[in-house]
Amino acid sequence: MKKINIGICGWGNVATGLYKAINKNHELIKKQANLDICIKFIGARRDNPKCNPQDVEILRDIFDVTHQDIDVVVELIGGVETARELILSALKNKKHVITANKAVIFHHGDELFNIASKNNIKILYESAVCAGTPIIKVLQEELAGNKISKISGMLNGTTNFILSEMEKGADFDPTLAIAQEKGYAEPDPSFDINGIDAAHKIGILSYIAHGTSLPPQKFYIEGISDITSTDFKNASDLGYAIKHLAVANQINNSIELRAHPALVRKESILASLQGVRNGIEIDTDLVGKIHITGSGAGQESTASGLISDIIHLSNNNIPLADNTDEKASSESLKEFNTILFQNYFSIEVEDDKEVNQKIISEADNNNIKIEEIISNKDKPSNVYFITNLVKESEASKFLKQLKVIEFVKDIKRIRIESE
Ligand SMILES: NC(=O)c1ccc[n+]([C@@H]2O[C@H](COP(=O)([O-])OP(=O)(O)OC[C@H]3O[C@@H](n4cnc5c(N)ncnc54)[C@H](OP(=O)(O)O)[C@@H]3O)[C@@H](O)[C@H]2O)c1
Repeated sequence: MKKINIGICGWGNVATGLYKAINKNHELIKKQANLDICIKFIGARRDNPKCNPQDVEILRDIFDVTHQDIDVVVELIGGVETARELILSALKNKKHVITANKAVIFHHGDELFNIASKNNIKILYESAVCAGTPIIKVLQEELAGNKISKISGMLNGTTNFILSEMEKGADFDPTLAIAQEKGYAEPDPSFDINGIDAAHKIGILSYIAHGTSLPPQKFYIEGISDITSTDFKNASDLGYAIKHLAVANQINNSIELRAHPALVRKESILASLQGVRNGIEIDTDLVGKIHITGSGAGQESTASGLISDIIHLSNNNIPLADNTDEKASSESLKEFNTILFQNYFSIEVEDDKEVNQKIISEADNNNIKIEEIISNKDKPSNVYFITNLVKESEASKFLKQLKVIEFVKDIKRIRIESE
């Protein structure tokens, strides 16, 4: 039987989940993977009241873990700069690294993978995207014989939970409070609701699928806090659901990278994925569309992804693809302003008759086509419509022009994701 000695850095939520999962499934892992996982050290600056580490040695300085006689350092401290230093220290000491930290991979992936590759050491990060729901190794290995054109999906459970509840009629603020009560959202939920967490994840997936850099060139990120229950009703009448989508889309040699709310057809698989789960659609040339859905957070789910990395390390002598040689240059990210979208507009008006004429005339002036301006039956102050496919820059210009029309009180635009 193979044996692997690991040192865990950090003694919070995920580290506790990993410790418990390894203990709970130790015999099962031995049987199924022919592997004895031995936790030798935990780097923790304080005791953990939720978990007794029994005979595992606790080191008060997390950096000391990287100097021990172990095979792998599991980085679970979170954050960016100290995590980077810790990983560099592990690499310097010839330890493989497993991390669940999307932020450090997003911001420093190129540097860390380059150093690891030069030293013939591996950095694995399955849990950094969608926790235990398999996606990283699916892209790196199972789909490695495919050309992947597009990855799109809901990569943040908190936003998917909030939007799913709003679809049923709830409002944003009370739903966010419920998400916090249930532990889905952090006490400071800004990274989730502003779209940053999903952006980190799609940046990592795009690195694997399309060879973009880590960190990627700056790309468009928008959160969900402006969406209202009126938008859900209007979208539904038009045959759409509203999701927060993170997208990496390769068209010829250029790559679209973006994370923002989007209308998706109600009958699509992504629209049907409700609640705190993550859902991803992958477009491949050989298999066609693949859908992956599952838990994107939580101690046990994240532990599952970490254990899969540990088993992978023990099984695999072939260096993982690190695409350090064949990276697309950052120039190849498509300029967001040039992307074509259909758009949903929702406008709060004081007098719809007056305003409708002006909307149509502004649309004509901008060469934008509107099929019909619909008056909201339940809310007389609201009208909404969908445009034809227009360049992002033109839709933004149109939005600005509509904002200054007399009797327009408020205006909202949400892009529509094409099939
Ligand atoms: N929670 C999830 O569901 C989930 C899912 C996927 C990925 N992840 C990722 O997993 C990582 C860990 O998340 P978590 O939820 O376990 O966070 P957490 O509960 O806040 O735990 C972080 C641990 O790291 C320790 N730590 C942080 N900075 C340190 C430092 N400079 N020196 C020593 N110890 C330090 C903390 O110690 P103190 O308590 O002393 O501050 C704490 O024990 C993050 O990168 C996160 O993004 C989490």
